[in-house]
Amino acid sequence: MTEKDFLSSSYPNIKNEGKSVWKAPSNIALIKYWGKRENQIPANPSLSFTLSSCATTTSVEYRRLEKGGADFDFDLFFEGNPMESFRPKIEIFLKRIEMYLPFLKEYHFKIETSNSFPHSSGIASSASGMAALALCLMDLEKELDPGMEADFFNKKASFLARLGSGSASRSIEGDLILWGADQEFPKSSDLYAIKYPFGVHGVFRNYQDTILLVHKGQKQVSSTVGHDLMHNHPFSEQRFVQARRNLSRIRPILSNGDLPAFVQLVESEALTLHAMMMTGSPYFMLMKPNTLEIINKIWEFRQSTDTNVCFTLDAGANVHVLYPENEKDLVLQFIKNELVVYCENGQYICDQIGFGAERVMGS
Ligand code: PMV
Repeated sequence: MTEKDFLSSSYPNIKNEGKSVWKAPSNIALIKYWGKRENQIPANPSLSFTLSSCATTTSVEYRRLEKGGADFDFDLFFEGNPMESFRPKIEIFLKRIEMYLPFLKEYHFKIETSNSFPHSSGIASSASGMAALALCLMDLEKELDPGMEADFFNKKASFLARLGSGSASRSIEGDLILWGADQEFPKSSDLYAIKYPFGVHGVFRNYQDTILLVHKGQKQVSSTVGHDLMHNHPFSEQRFVQARRNLSRIRPILSNGDLPAFVQLVESEALTLHAMMMTGSPYFMLMKPNTLEIINKIWEFRQSTDTNVCFTLDAGANVHVLYPENEKDLVLQFIKNELVVYCENGQYICDQIGFGAERVMGS
């Protein structure tokens, strides 16, 4: 498929008003996306676990205007309150997707959104937020074009979400999601994410992710700036090659359930992501002292207990602690006894692999 396949020119139906509500999950990348080309085309493919509890619920109420205007017409609420500070981000998103949803200026939208995770927890809500909004808008497009197939609906939702935030493309479906074209992976695409196309060992079923909230403040450097800095980065080309190689290496690991190899690869990906931040120009660092304390404790614990607990990081200081379900009791005890002390206000979130976004309501 190409971008052109997502263009729409005319619709068989008219819809005057309605409402759509979607709950879209967050996701955590095992193979990281860091660096992109024009139009949100990733510099390398990425692979993620879709999460279950960490999610954004978005409701979009739409009403057809008598006369479409020159601007987008929408009101925005976050957790019940008007949220003007989100407006520019949504405007940019709507502008980017307008050519694919040409009806956007013909409607007034009331967009209400809320997160399942604590406000300003440092957990990026852009993936779940953009995915939920893209799905609501796709619901409206489906009302206008009722013949649309489910597969196309999901692909286009991922395609649109990607234009809001790259990783949002991976928050439509579950449980293991691949975004970015790679010849080893049939049907993979730079334009949208797909379900991981090969078999996965049972040990990854219900895989656990406990997110330790180390730093809840605003990040010093946004992902947008971080991606941009990969353009003139001395190691970027090697990094893109390495990410592809890691994607190829994770294939047998996922099918054989080789947890020691999984741990090594996932942690290496996380540290490489942060190494890219620290070796760019200008350099920056998103890890905090407590991030490193936690990493060291995880290494000690893994060695002394023979468990398969490991960590990964996204673009922030929080630590995602990953482990198989059968190690849950032991690891949760360890987290409570030894890691909570490094969390801001002792806060952490227990999550696990999830199966994708859910429609809460559509009419
Ligand atoms: O989707 P963005 O532009 O916020 O980038 C996310 C990048 C990482 O979270 C660091 C890695 C990833 O693949 O999710």
